Amino acid sequence: MQIINTITPDYRSYLSKEEMAAIEHEASIMETREAAGIEALKVVQKHRGWISDDSLYAIAQMLNMSAAELEGVATFYNLIYRQKVGRYVIHICNSISCHLSGYQQVLQAIKAHLGIDYGQTTADGMFTLLSNACLGGCDKAPVMMIGERHYEYLTPEKAVEILEKIAAGASTENYLSSFLNEGDAAADRENKPRSRDYLDDDDVAGEISEMELSDD
Ligand code: FES
Repeated sequence: MQIINTITPDYRSYLSKEEMAAIEHEASIMETREAAGIEALKVVQKHRGWISDDSLYAIAQMLNMSAAELEGVATFYNLIYRQKVGRYVIHICNSISCHLSGYQQVLQAIKAHLGIDYGQTTADGMFTLLSNACLGGCDKAPVMMIGERHYEYLTPEKAVEILEKIAAGASTENYLSSFLNEGDAAADRENKPRSRDYLDDDDVAGEISEMELSDD
């Protein structure tokens, strides 16, 4: 892949202070700066959702490594997204145990529910669907992963239910965040932590799915 650098020469004008601080922390605990490559990619992906060419170039510059070297790291690690993805990325396992336990039916249900195929993102930007090699839950197949959470013993109905609840939770979070923003303004004035500081997408997906699926 050809990496096209369109950013200004200095990574400091591209990466945020938070990103640079987190990357610098990772670099400080590694033997070499280059060894922090994968963690640095994760830091920027957490903030931006994916790793663009410009992000890749900026990280490489900060870690004193070539963009080609860092691209090798990013390509090797399948949870680093080099193309724009949806808010929630569904990794569905297509390895042998899942194949033998209903993977095809689960996949078809997800595709039909979301109206997308592998590698595609829903029109609302909510979900991207990707295949994945074994997720390590072969005795609980079929399995999919969304964010950092695994969903096991899937059936077509259960998979769709999970997606519906994540989507509903995201809507609730949007409503909640607009409501909380009024409180945040007051918190800012008083220099208190903002309510949104405690939320991230994985938390929302995980808490909702765990809470509502616990009585299955
Ligand atoms: S084969 Fe699907 S989790 Fe191992």
